[in-house]
Amino acid sequence: MKKSDVVKMLLKERLFANPKNSKVEAFAPTNIALCKYWGKRDPELNLPVTSSLSISLANLGASVSLNVAAEDKIVLNNQLVDPQSSFSIRLVEFLDLVRLNRSPHLEINIISTVPIAAGLASSACGFAAITLALNKLYDWELTGRELSILARLGSGSACRSIWNGFVEWNSGIRSDGMDSHGSVIHHHWPELCMGLVLLSQQEKSISSRKAMERTVNTSPLYSAWPAKVAQDLSLIKQAITVHDFKLLGKTAEFNAMTMHATMLSAWPPVSYYLPETMMAMEKVWALRAEGLDLYFTQDAGPNIKLLFLKKDFSEVQLHFPQLQSVNLF
Ligand code: PMV
Repeated sequence: MKKSDVVKMLLKERLFANPKNSKVEAFAPTNIALCKYWGKRDPELNLPVTSSLSISLANLGASVSLNVAAEDKIVLNNQLVDPQSSFSIRLVEFLDLVRLNRSPHLEINIISTVPIAAGLASSACGFAAITLALNKLYDWELTGRELSILARLGSGSACRSIWNGFVEWNSGIRSDGMDSHGSVIHHHWPELCMGLVLLSQQEKSISSRKAMERTVNTSPLYSAWPAKVAQDLSLIKQAITVHDFKLLGKTAEFNAMTMHATMLSAWPPVSYYLPETMMAMEKVWALRAEGLDLYFTQDAGPNIKLLFLKKDFSEVQLHFPQLQSVNLF
């Protein structure tokens, strides 16, 4: 099955209709997985091997403005994007799923408040925001589930960036992926904090797409991953329900470490570690040994995200002066 078949199922008679508006804007938050998505059962449709669960960073994400124009033009953080770049090609391919013969041409302005391709899910919020903007441009009136499925075709983790708060992406079992989308876990946890520790803004060495494929195909440890995720998902959901921070932190960190271990055991090895990443991790472990409730998670990049409770904010900041605190709720 191809992406275009899925889009046809989602939009039905609305596919290729003319835009109802000429200029729209949308924002989507980035999301950080507490239980990770690593590995696809269908690379074309970005269908995952396992379910996953994230928290959205309410004030960090992508703002997109779309307007009908004389030619396609993409501007990212006020800089014109080279149409031959992989960024542009991927984005235009996504737009072409809903356009006939590249019509209408669109001018897209993206302002991303997260560093691009540094493992901070910039593609997740980017594709989610573009999906929300297209929904407005064409007045499709898609449901959250449908928006999530459409965003997933751009980038897997984008399907969780349609909402704020905790979002679970159910892997689904259908080959058309109509059951593989995000849904909100309604739980408010205002004491829960996340902070970004930005160690490098360089583009990642290998895309998550390629890295996942290599891990699935070559890592002898990958077969243990689905069972680990099933266990972690259930623990994280339990932790969220009863606001058990230690359980949440431990499970999220353990899950991230296991994901990176499967990558390290791929061939050629996939490593997103920098020496600074290791130093930050060691610091977290040392502080925890001294009694501070501090945990971390790491995605497809060298930066780490700290998890802690609001009451410990000043102490965490003392040890990580570069901490960028983010709003979760
Ligand atoms: O959706 P992608 O291709 O950006 O992959 C995201 C992979 C991780 O960030 C490492 C894990 C996750 O669940 O977000």
